Amino acid sequence: MFARTLGFCLVAILFPAAQAVRIESSRDFPLGSEVENLALRPSGSVLATVYTFPHIYEVAPGPNSTPRLLHVFQNTTGACGIAPSSTPDVFFVLTGNFSFETFGPAPGSYAIHRLSFSKCGSPIVKKIAGLGAIAQPNGMTAVPGTPYMLIADSNGGFVYRFNTKTLQLKPYFDHPLLKPRPVGGVVFGVNGVKLSRGYLYFSNTNQQLVARIKATGTEMAPLQGHPEVVASPTPVDDFIVNDLNGDVYVAESEPLSAIGFVSKDKYGSAPVTIAGGPNSTALVGPTAAIWAKGAVGKTLLVSVTGGFEQFVTKNFTGGGKVATVHLE
Ligand SMILES: *[C@@H]1O[C@H](CO)[C@@H](O)[C@H](O)[C@H]1NC(C)=O
Ligand SMILES: *[C@@H]1O[C@H](CO)[C@@H](O)[C@H](O)[C@H]1NC(C)=O
Ligand SMILES: *[C@@H]1O[C@H](CO)[C@@H](O)[C@H](O)[C@H]1NC(C)=O
Ligand SMILES: *[C@@H]1O[C@H](CO)[C@@H](O)[C@H](O)[C@H]1NC(C)=O
Repeated sequence: MFARTLGFCLVAILFPAAQAVRIESSRDFPLGSEVENLALRPSGSVLATVYTFPHIYEVAPGPNSTPRLLHVFQNTTGACGIAPSSTPDVFFVLTGNFSFETFGPAPGSYAIHRLSFSKCGSPIVKKIAGLGAIAQPNGMTAVPGTPYMLIADSNGGFVYRFNTKTLQLKPYFDHPLLKPRPVGGVVFGVNGVKLSRGYLYFSNTNQQLVARIKATGTEMAPLQGHPEVVASPTPVDDFIVNDLNGDVYVAESEPLSAIGFVSKDKYGSAPVTIAGGPNSTALVGPTAAIWAKGAVGKTLLVSVTGGFEQFVTKNFTGGGKVATVHLE
């Protein structure tokens, strides 16, 4: 998730105007909703978690669609990571109590749930395990063809692997580039995790980088080796990789509020702003980006909070939505 990137110095390099992208948006989520993470259904509609309420919404594709409340989780205050499983139209969702006043998680409050759909389309949600051993579960990604989910721990600075069949939880990767490096008391290390092109890509919010390391997700021993920095510096939250060519698109927090782009041949550099930006209201406080249906490299779906300050002051200004960013 997010970060109040205190002291971040803006290094945005803007694309020439000729490359302007087109942005459309859903209608706003209810006031007070911190839209946190997204996953695509095979139909093309998007599932969106909210971290300030224990809610998950479904948003149909197309501009001006109204977010529809799909499910309310019990015994928790919010939902954060969501990712498709290796089975079509079956998802895993992380829930837990996160305080936007202290910017910290309630230890032991996190759990993982399985979300599927009945024949008539209603959601079937089942808690499969508590994740008390993980300080702050955040981004999550499936290991294709396996029951494994990789889960980032933003507070402890680890990547865990959870077996959704045996419920076994194991540390999968530990490295200094996963650790938080608190800024103004905000503790946010590894945030988003993705498997793409034979690598585990991850973002680290405090360290303002995206990096990758060779990985399949199926290794028996914990991952060893040295990650390569893909993007830095960047006020990164989550990100997405173009599986076809390795280009990376970064959801960059306030005050940048942009989608940053790093092409495969520019790995190691600062992202170039291609959508939103500090002078734009198009993508205020973006938290995550995924590809729209059948549109890898062409159309991004971006979760947008409308600005984090409102969740701290509780003087809500709205603006939580799912934006569609047409890259071509
Ligand atoms: C998390 O929030 C739920 C709902 O408010 C509450 O019942 C539960 O006690 C909280 N758990 C922790 C560990 O704070
Ligand atoms: C609430 O969640 C906590 C943490 O996941 C768990 O230990 C507890 O058993 C849950 N309580 C209920 C009533 O589900
Ligand atoms: C934003 O607007 C200010 C004031 O017009 C300008 O100085 C600044 O360069 C702009 N920033 C970007 C990234 O366009
Ligand atoms: C709440 O936000 C609105 C709009 O930004 C602002 O005009 C108002 O003064 C704020 N109220 C308080 C109590 O901070």
